[in-house]
Amino acid sequence: MFDRFPEPVPDALHAVMARFRADERPHKIDLGVGVYRDDSGASPIMAAVREAELALAREADTKAYQALAGDHQFVGAMTSLIFGEEHPALREGRVAAIQGTGGTGSLRIAMDLARIAAPGARLHLGLPSWPNHAAIAAAAGLELVTHRYFDATSGALDLAAIEAAAETVEEGDLFLLHGPCHNPTGADLPPGARSRLLAAVAGRGAIPLIDAAYYGLGDGLAEDLQILRDAAAAVPRAFIGVACSKSFGLYRERTGILFAVCAGADERARVQGQMERTSRTLVSMPPAHGAALVARVLTDRHLRTSWERELSAMRHRMLGLRAELAALADRAPLLRGVDRERGIFKMLPLTAEQAEALGRDHAIHMAPSGRINIAGLKAGDAPRLAQALAAFSE
Ligand SMILES: Cc1ncc(COP(=O)(O)O)c(C=O)c1O
Repeated sequence: MFDRFPEPVPDALHAVMARFRADERPHKIDLGVGVYRDDSGASPIMAAVREAELALAREADTKAYQALAGDHQFVGAMTSLIFGEEHPALREGRVAAIQGTGGTGSLRIAMDLARIAAPGARLHLGLPSWPNHAAIAAAAGLELVTHRYFDATSGALDLAAIEAAAETVEEGDLFLLHGPCHNPTGADLPPGARSRLLAAVAGRGAIPLIDAAYYGLGDGLAEDLQILRDAAAAVPRAFIGVACSKSFGLYRERTGILFAVCAGADERARVQGQMERTSRTLVSMPPAHGAALVARVLTDRHLRTSWERELSAMRHRMLGLRAELAALADRAPLLRGVDRERGIFKMLPLTAEQAEALGRDHAIHMAPSGRINIAGLKAGDAPRLAQALAAFSE
């Protein structure tokens, strides 16, 4: 029966990574994989995380299983981080939460719950998006309905298409909204459009699924979190999937959390129970290490300050690169607008062949979609990127 599986489709981004590794030119640039990189091209362990790790290594005294909902200190600390202390949904006891294995695992629980609650539920997804959104929906058995989020050629959001899509949702469907720093475009919804969408989706009985993977890397930690808090206050029900991969640099530790804002406290108890039942069959009990690190970083005053400072420095590095690239846009028109976008990504309107040619001819490696990781630029790389892109007009 194993021969019934389809031929494996090679992962496009892994192929780019392999080409980058094989490239022997010393000036090669890696704009492929979506991890934050510092000026030297490293993806470092944050200082606060390192300190927390050393302390935990000394103090931890068990590897016994955690609770089904995960590390309760982590859940508490992340709840405070994301909602603050005064959020109405918290005050009213309407927030269910479960530790997920990264943002991916958290989104998977949300999508499984949507199918269980409403068999036939659909996921409405604006494109382009993080490719795993569609893949997780397929794994969870949700039908995918797509609309255009962004027009790569004009470099603008397609607000008319997004708002029209929100008018087609049905009760029980999920409508995916990116938190701050859209992947792959860096182009976020203006606040007014976000509010209108939330109202339209909730008004039709569907659930917004907010994917927050890059908080603190957009306009600032407080500003980025406010987007999530406002969304959670604007609708009776919402899922918020939160990754700790980027903002805490914990990629391989598979750390995240799923929140469900529910219409009432009784509903919250049911949702909490279903989250735990569902997670039991996916991971049984969630992993401990990353969650323990986040709990420590968020609750120790010294580590918290260190984390916020380093996160802010990461954000400023990317804002600096964006300003540098924007100043080169006269030479390379494809870079126009890069300073208005946020986060680690920008989408260049290139064909897969053009993206591959930039790797071959200029040692600048990027995803075939034309998505570039801005943080992949080391000091002095921006002018080389602009020079290589100068051949392309808008
Ligand atoms: C938009 C988006 N959501 C969620 C994730 C989840 O990442 P992870 O599962 O590694 O936490 C990512 C990671 O690249 C992402 O870009």
